[in-house]
Amino acid sequence: MTEIEEPAQSIFTRIYEEGLWGRANDTEQAYYSGQGSHDPAMVDPYVNAVSLYLHFHTLIIGKKPNVVDLGCGDFNVGARLRPLCHHYVACDVATPLIQWNRKKYLDLGVDFRQVDILTDPLPDGDIVFLRQVLQYLSNAQIAVALQKIAKTYRFLVLTEHLPSGNSFTANLDKRSGSDIRLSAGSGVVVTQPPFSLPVTQVQTICEVAGYGGVLRTDIFHLSPGS
Ligand SMILES: C[S@@+](CC[C@H](N)C(=O)[O-])C[C@H]1O[C@@H](n2cnc3c(N)ncnc32)[C@H](O)[C@@H]1O
Repeated sequence: MTEIEEPAQSIFTRIYEEGLWGRANDTEQAYYSGQGSHDPAMVDPYVNAVSLYLHFHTLIIGKKPNVVDLGCGDFNVGARLRPLCHHYVACDVATPLIQWNRKKYLDLGVDFRQVDILTDPLPDGDIVFLRQVLQYLSNAQIAVALQKIAKTYRFLVLTEHLPSGNSFTANLDKRSGSDIRLSAGSGVVVTQPPFSLPVTQVQTICEVAGYGGVLRTDIFHLSPGS
């Protein structure tokens, strides 16, 4: 019998409400996406590397890119990249978090949307950010999300928390939830089975050691029309 998974909306709203990724020191910060979204040692190198990429993209294309941020979380990271983008659509499945982001970041001109990447249509954009999102999903869900992403965007900026080195077993399955594959010595590698995402180019732009592994950011060139 196939097990029915709890909807992502209720899983991730509960994670925020129960503080399963921790709580901010600042009590005003009602929603907290975890240390990976706040620790400067993890966030600063990412922001620097993606900023360089966005500058480069802007130079080549002649205008700032339209960006879609899937699983934007509490937007501590996205807020720092927002000025380098033209239209910025920030999506998350957790409705109260999106409502809170709309108020907190009112001045940034961000289009915050409640979107479940598994079931809803994905907004259009030139570049998609997917930072520390797939690592929380089951393999079946990752496969669904990647299929949609590959059909919609040309450039995927993907960040995953992985074991150090290259000799780990990729893509062990797990249930959707607040934990990641690292404790089982695994991590999500989208170009390996069972996902085998078709890409024409991959570039690692950032790799930071921390929390028992590495936070790696790759840019994947996709072919949405094919
Ligand atoms: C750890 S947070 C990362 C936040 C942000 N990307 C960052 O790096 O700071 C993961 C986010 O993915 C969101 N998420 C998980 N499943 C999702 C889904 N099916 N659709 C949209 N967002 C989802 C969660 O609600 C959560 O906010």
